[in-house]
Order: sequence, then structure tokens, then C-alpha cells
Amino acid sequence: MSGPLYFSTRGHLLVCQGQSCQTRGSALLHRALWNALERESLAYYKKGGSLRLTESGCLGACSYGPTLCAYRTKPEGGLEEGWYAATDLPQALSVARAIHAGEALPDGGKYGP
Ligand code: FES
Repeated sequence: MSGPLYFSTRGHLLVCQGQSCQTRGSALLHRALWNALERESLAYYKKGGSLRLTESGCLGACSYGPTLCAYRTKPEGGLEEGWYAATDLPQALSVARAIHAGEALPDGGKYGP
């Protein structure tokens, strides 16, 4: 019996769907980002794609949502994380494109480490 199919990825984007972030439009942001990842073939299941996108529970920045968290594997190993507040689609897409291209995470809207 074979196991589940594994898709190698470069990064993972999490869009908070907690109540406070939903009040600030996070459901629409998630849907719009999903559509953009599909359109630009950045989603891991597209040919050449490399990104996962997941709805998450509260990410702890409720008053500043929608909150986006991004993880990726660093070339030298280990994980890099980026946390973004008051995220809109252009900002989320710029994070996604940077991860896909192996570029530095954008600074705009970033908080935390
Ligand atoms: S509800 Fe989104 S960070 Fe808490």
C-alpha cells in the first residue's frame, strides 16, 4: 500500500480566519490570494508552483488583522518566518512571489522576528 502523495514546497502561507480578522476581511483575502496563486501558477499543485496556502485560527494579532504568517525553508537550512499585519492582497501576493522566487521577504507591514 502506498502512502499519501507528497508535494515539495518552498513556503507556506497562513491567513488567519479568527473572528476579529474575519471582521476585517480575511475570508475575502484568503479567497483572493488563493485565486492569485492559481492564476500565477504559484500554488504547489500547479506545474512549477511551490506554495501552500492555509486558513488558520487566531495568530495573536487580532487588533491588527487580517494577519498573515509565512514560513519557508532557508537555503542554508532551518525555517524563516514572516508575520504581517493589516494585510491586503497586494502585500500578501508580494510575500508569496518573494518566497517563490527565493527573494527576501518584503518589509512592509511586517512585525515580529
Ligand atoms: S483573530 Fe486573527 S490574529 Fe486573532
